[in-house]
Amino acid sequence: MTETVDSIAGVRALIAREKAALVAAGVASPRVALVPTMGALHNGHVALVERATELAEIVVVSIFVNPTQFNAAEDLQRYPRDLEADVVTLSAVSGPSHSTSLVVFAPAVDAMYPSGTTQTIVSAGRAGNTLEGRSRAGHFDGVLTVVSKLLNIVRPDIVLFGQKDAQQAFLVGRMITDLDIATSIEVVPTVREDDGLALSSRNRFLDERERRASRVLSQMLEAAESAADRGIDTVIAAAQSVAMGEPLVQVDYLAVVDPATFSPVDDDHRGRAIVLVAAKVGSTRLIDNETIYLG
Ligand code: PAF
Repeated sequence: MTETVDSIAGVRALIAREKAALVAAGVASPRVALVPTMGALHNGHVALVERATELAEIVVVSIFVNPTQFNAAEDLQRYPRDLEADVVTLSAVSGPSHSTSLVVFAPAVDAMYPSGTTQTIVSAGRAGNTLEGRSRAGHFDGVLTVVSKLLNIVRPDIVLFGQKDAQQAFLVGRMITDLDIATSIEVVPTVREDDGLALSSRNRFLDERERRASRVLSQMLEAAESAADRGIDTVIAAAQSVAMGEPLVQVDYLAVVDPATFSPVDDDHRGRAIVLVAAKVGSTRLIDNETIYLG
């Protein structure tokens, strides 16, 4: 069953009602999972929601295009919004054998920011100013502030994020630890098109040529992975050489970071690392990443 609600009081009341009904039906401690989204849902989001239904009896999907994480007004305006289509997508999500209650929390901007913005802002700190944060100043402060609001509103046992936004998932994980927020985080693998392109709400902005060119991002990551036992410089060079063959793709950054700190790895680093790429394909900015094992 899917119910949509747009107020903070409303979503809290709905969660309380669903919990009480589950307890009455014999579920001793019903669990709540939160999947924060900005809508324009695709199969990557569906994978998050499907995983959430395995972990909790009540799944809250928030749909809120958060203005405080956009620095360009133009990006905020052109961000795709289609609540009706999103609700249809969510209603088709099949859960496991127990029947999950699916709550769609879709507040308006003034429900989340009654006075226009918040005076209190969660700072993402050093790791929030690199990579995505360097290209988009203040972006992660906006993300962490809205995610902390959503966590306070929904109070989930677990919150789910996609691996595609690896830096976001890392920073939310750090915020949960640093601020002792009573929830846990699960990061769900990236869902890809057949040719490797990571699913993203932005893919719809690509024209046919750009769509073909955008395969380069995942090919760069594959090249990096194949060079993983030959040192960090070779890893970077292997990925760069793929990008050089595609004039429509302008790489913004290509980095290899330590998953524990999100700092760039040096030559001595062994074991798990994350290769991240951001690139403009035409006027659309795409990101992707892959875990590699440096030998
Ligand atoms: O990844 C997103 O869609 C957004 O950054 C999030 C986590 C929903 C916060 O607005």
